[in-house]
Amino acid sequence: MRISVIGAGYVGLVTGACLAKLANKVTLIDIDTHKIKSINSKASPLYEEGLDELLNQVNVEVSPDYTRTTDSEVLFICVGTPPDKDGPISLEQITEATKEISKVLKKKKDYCVVAVKSTVAPGTTEELVIPILEKSGKRTGKDFGVCFSPEFLREGKAVYDFMNPARIIIGEYDKRSGDTLLKLYRNFNAPVLRTNLRTAEMIKLASNAFLAAKISFINEIGNICKNLGIDVYEVAKGMGYDDRIGNKFLNAGIGFGGSCLPKDIQGLISKSRQIGYEPKILQEVLNLNDRQALKVIDLLKKHISLKGTTIGVLGLAFKPGTDDIRDSSALRVVQALLKEGAKVKAYDPMAVNNFKKLFPQIEYVARAEALNSDAILILTEWPEFNELDYSGKIVVDGRRVEKAREAKIYEGICW
Ligand code: UDX
Repeated sequence: MRISVIGAGYVGLVTGACLAKLANKVTLIDIDTHKIKSINSKASPLYEEGLDELLNQVNVEVSPDYTRTTDSEVLFICVGTPPDKDGPISLEQITEATKEISKVLKKKKDYCVVAVKSTVAPGTTEELVIPILEKSGKRTGKDFGVCFSPEFLREGKAVYDFMNPARIIIGEYDKRSGDTLLKLYRNFNAPVLRTNLRTAEMIKLASNAFLAAKISFINEIGNICKNLGIDVYEVAKGMGYDDRIGNKFLNAGIGFGGSCLPKDIQGLISKSRQIGYEPKILQEVLNLNDRQALKVIDLLKKHISLKGTTIGVLGLAFKPGTDDIRDSSALRVVQALLKEGAKVKAYDPMAVNNFKKLFPQIEYVARAEALNSDAILILTEWPEFNELDYSGKIVVDGRRVEKAREAKIYEGICW
């Protein structure tokens, strides 16, 4: 099929490259000349496992010119929906992209489907996207179709997740819209759920909110267990045998970060308040997550005074396998260490450049072994941290790195 993808960020680029791999003719639209240049030279502008190789196996046209989408059968909107300053999801980019598509629709002769893939609050596709598209003078359902087609990609595993979805959710304006998307996904071996637009939007947000809730839950259990001398990882193992609970996302520690979970749960909370419902559980999931990261500071203070002391930080990325530091727990922890008057020395195999932009004042080392400091905090579970020598050190571990238990003083954040 002839596909256009608006927005060549992490979701758009992975979606475009994977659909091209599945023999679709793909046009990527982005206004960022750096991204366009990089993609045209077959190099991914962002780090994602397997994406460079994929880009070298496929042909995707990339352009800032929306008229390149005129002959497309499906136009995916994959632009960013970052958090707005007071919580809700920002719709600026999605509004701009939709206005441009509306101009294309005006001249378009053939039927096509506009499919939103960006994460938005329930009701956004009906209340914002469709009215803008109809400014083209064309009618939804008659001249074009609309879908909401959420992605559930994990950073670092996005190409694999796109090609091996656990499920395909198709939110459709009408049957014809959904049929068009189903045709595109016909070669995927996954259960398909067809539903209406706002239900599909809610499935995306609720799925991420549940993952976040599971992490805050096990961290709460961990906090209790630590005070009872019980190992929360043993507890999680026992819980996880029950497939109603499942053994995934029960790794207790410093809490969740990244560009999705915190933002999506905050977006859901804002939407819920907008309609007059106070989502107490969701809010507490976030509150606990905010508190959890800073527990490492309290634990550190049990063993060392921070003022003028050098604290080594192992791990800055929000999780291993990425250079992404968005909403990483390390941001809050380093901020707090500096506030306490500590000197900070940090190491991360991939995320130092991104972190340096926000914290130029701290010291960065090129090798983990070079982190000679008075105490160490482990904030990301990079596999190489399980090879280090921790003997004689003071370690507060936020990510369950077993090797660190050899330290002179070892403190697990919630074990
Ligand atoms: C997440 C969802 O997994 C994905 O389906 C959605 O599309 C986007 O958001 P991602 O942000 O890449 O993906 O990160 P994920 O691998 O889910 O981890 C999120 C955070 O939770 C990380 O900070 C991770 O360290 C933390 N985490 C994860 C835990 O603390 N414990 C766990 O057991 C699992």
